[in-house]
Amino acid sequence: MSTAQVQPKLIIHGGAGSSLKGGADVVRRSLFQVLEEVYALLTEGASAHTAVVRGCQLLENDPRFNAGTGSVLQSDGQIRMSASLMDGLMQRFSGVINVSRVKNPIDLAMFLQGGDDRVLSDYGSLELLRELQLPTYDPLTELRLQEWMQERRGNFTKDMAGVVAERELVSEAGRGTIGVVVLDRERRLAAGTSTGGKGFERIGRVSDSAMPAGNYATHHAAISCTGIGEDIIDECLAPRIVVRVTDGMPLQVAFEKSFKEASSRNRDFGAIGIDATGAIAWGKTSEVLLAAYHDGEKMGDTLEMGAEMGIGVN
Ligand code: GLY
Repeated sequence: MSTAQVQPKLIIHGGAGSSLKGGADVVRRSLFQVLEEVYALLTEGASAHTAVVRGCQLLENDPRFNAGTGSVLQSDGQIRMSASLMDGLMQRFSGVINVSRVKNPIDLAMFLQGGDDRVLSDYGSLELLRELQLPTYDPLTELRLQEWMQERRGNFTKDMAGVVAERELVSEAGRGTIGVVVLDRERRLAAGTSTGGKGFERIGRVSDSAMPAGNYATHHAAISCTGIGEDIIDECLAPRIVVRVTDGMPLQVAFEKSFKEASSRNRDFGAIGIDATGAIAWGKTSEVLLAAYHDGEKMGDTLEMGAEMGIGVN
C-alpha cells in the first residue's frame, strides 16, 4: 500500500429478524466465508464497486439468505427480486425492481451503472436480461417452496417469510435481505443490497432494497439496510444516516440518533455502514441482525447481540 492508501473496510449482512433458533454458527460460517473472499479482493486493489458486486453475488448464491437463490415466494407463489448498487464516488444509484429468472440481480444493477436509465422495473429488467443474453435461472429452493405451501394451508396468516432458509434456524418472522458495504484502499465507498422481498406480499409491492431509502452511498458514507421495507422507506433510513455524516456527525452518533428515532416509532429493521474515515457501524431495532465485518485486522459479527435496540461501532 502506498502512503496515500488506507486499510480497506468491509461489512456485510444477511438480513434481520426475530431470534435465530438453533444457534448462529452456521450463519457465521457463511458470512465469514464471504468476508474472506471479498477482503482478499480488496487487498489486491479491487474497487469498492467491484468488491460490493462480488460480495452480493456470493450472498445471492447462498440459498440460506433471502436474495437470489433462496429468495422467498410472493403471495402468488412467484419469486420477484430487487437489487441496487450505489457508487459513493460517483454518487450514482442503479437498480432493478421485481425481476425474475436471473441468478444474480446485482449483475443487472451493475450493468445499469453505466447507462442513462438506471432503475428498471419488472418488464424492463426482463428486457435487459434478454438483451444481455443472460441464461434463464430459477432461484427457487425446496425449503422456500415448503414455507410457501405451509403458509398457503394457513391462508397466509404470517406477515412475511423466514429470514434464514434453514429448518432449525427459521425465525418466526423474517426480514431477510443481503447487503455489502465497502471502503476500498483508495478511500472509495460503495453499497449494494439485494432481496427476494418480504415473502407472501401483494404482487407489485416494491422493496426498499432497490430504493435509495434502503441503499445509499456518497464519498462521506455508505449504508445498506435490511428489515421491513415499509419501515425503512418511512424513515428514509440510508440517506438519513449519510446526510448526518455529511453534516459532520461521526458515523456512530448518526447511527445512534437515527435508531433512537426509529425505535420511538416502533420500526423493525437493521443497517450497516462505513464512513470515509474507515469507521464501521451497525444498528438494529429488530431482535437480531445477521451482520459481519472485516476491519483489516480481524473479523467480527453481530449475531449474538441482545434483543434490545443495538448500536455497534468498530
Ligand atoms: N427489506 C426488504 C424488503 O422489505 O423487501
